[in-house]
Amino acid sequence: MNIALIGSGGREHALCQKIYESKITKNIICIPGNAGTAKIAKNINLDFLNFSKLLKVIKYNKINLVVVGPEEPLVKGLVDFLTKHKIKVFGPNKYAAKLEGSKAFMKSVCEKNKIPTAQFKICKTKKDVNNFLKKSNFPLVVKADGLAAGKGVTICKNKKQVLRVSNEIFKGKFKTSKKLVLEEFLEGEEASYFLIVDKKNFKFFGSAQDHKRVGEKDTGPNTGGMGAYSPAPIINKELEKKIIKKIVNPTLLALKKKKKPYTGFLYVGLMIKNNEPYLIEYNVRMGDPECQVIIPRLKTDLVKIFSSTIRNKLDKINIKWKKLKSMTIVLCSKGYPGKYKKNKKIKYQKDLDSNKKTFIFHAGTKFVDGELVSNGGRVLNVTSTGKVFKDIRNNIIKKIKKINWKEGFFRKDIGWRII
Ligand code: AMP
Ligand code: GLY
Repeated sequence: MNIALIGSGGREHALCQKIYESKITKNIICIPGNAGTAKIAKNINLDFLNFSKLLKVIKYNKINLVVVGPEEPLVKGLVDFLTKHKIKVFGPNKYAAKLEGSKAFMKSVCEKNKIPTAQFKICKTKKDVNNFLKKSNFPLVVKADGLAAGKGVTICKNKKQVLRVSNEIFKGKFKTSKKLVLEEFLEGEEASYFLIVDKKNFKFFGSAQDHKRVGEKDTGPNTGGMGAYSPAPIINKELEKKIIKKIVNPTLLALKKKKKPYTGFLYVGLMIKNNEPYLIEYNVRMGDPECQVIIPRLKTDLVKIFSSTIRNKLDKINIKWKKLKSMTIVLCSKGYPGKYKKNKKIKYQKDLDSNKKTFIFHAGTKFVDGELVSNGGRVLNVTSTGKVFKDIRNNIIKKIKKINWKEGFFRKDIGWRII
């Protein structure tokens, strides 16, 4: 099979590695990929949001399956476009992708189907905001409706802050939408639960916990994710049953009723309080860096899983997992998530190659004239597996120190809650 993988992050390098290991894979192209995928696939530098150009490249390379990594092309309807042109593709359709693309849509699905989530109000005007403020306590969460690259959520301490943040959204700070969702702040512990879904069935695809804040002990501004570990110890069998019954089943059924069934990876972002799950968000893709800790635990051939999914035969495949635990720490460019410099040289050395125990998944990297340089805020994901999280973390930190990239920084406390 010839496979095209869309995206360029650590998530895509992890997927690419597993696709590369499959017996049924022939050629892989990554659009655009990074320096890590360049070693195992052909990178094609192309704007994947230019659907008609993308189609030409897919046809030219005789691609049998397209796997979409990031949310933006999904929300913009890439799956519908490729399906119309008879190209096989793994990922949700445009309507279903609104679960991530519009917080207002996701919240209305929750409301109509009694899915446990924070109390909320969809606001289109200042008046709506003021009305909700009359009966709410602080902190209060303000969320821009559309995609906002992880920057659309603010936890507000007082009324003044709510009004300021809301105003910015109404004025168009996030181009994707001028609507917002105001919601109650939920206390508890966060966990991410993953599924792979076809039109008839779904299967568990791992659990993880990530660290979104840039600073140690989860302080400072939000990032795309500074590290993660899998499995999420907080998710037990009893909780899992509740997640499926109260959250997943009603959501998938609601989309089926609209004749727009969900397919692809589904990322269920949860807050757990007193052993009860509350839905915080849906993402219509794998998490990044969660994918980098889940994929190394997967035993089953990933391409076989994809091909069962697109044939709606997920029930026929047994997805097996290693008993090992897994962790990743993200090596970032200094300054991230604020301003940072690109094109900083990373000395290429044998420590940058993966081995049996440690995997280096590239994110913002590229080769320029044969030299490895940084090309983004999150640069490398140093990942390792083992039996004890503390040992795994020590092993990763040792590796990062060996890589010795002076332009970077990382969090040394990933997994602090469980270590
Ligand atoms: P989201 O983009 O909706 O996942 O929000 C980003 C982050 O904000 C989440 O991972 C949580 O840490 C936090 N967050 C979002 N909504 C809430 C909420 N209702 N209560 C508490 N924390 C929240
Ligand atoms: N790590 C969070 C996300 O992928 O959305």
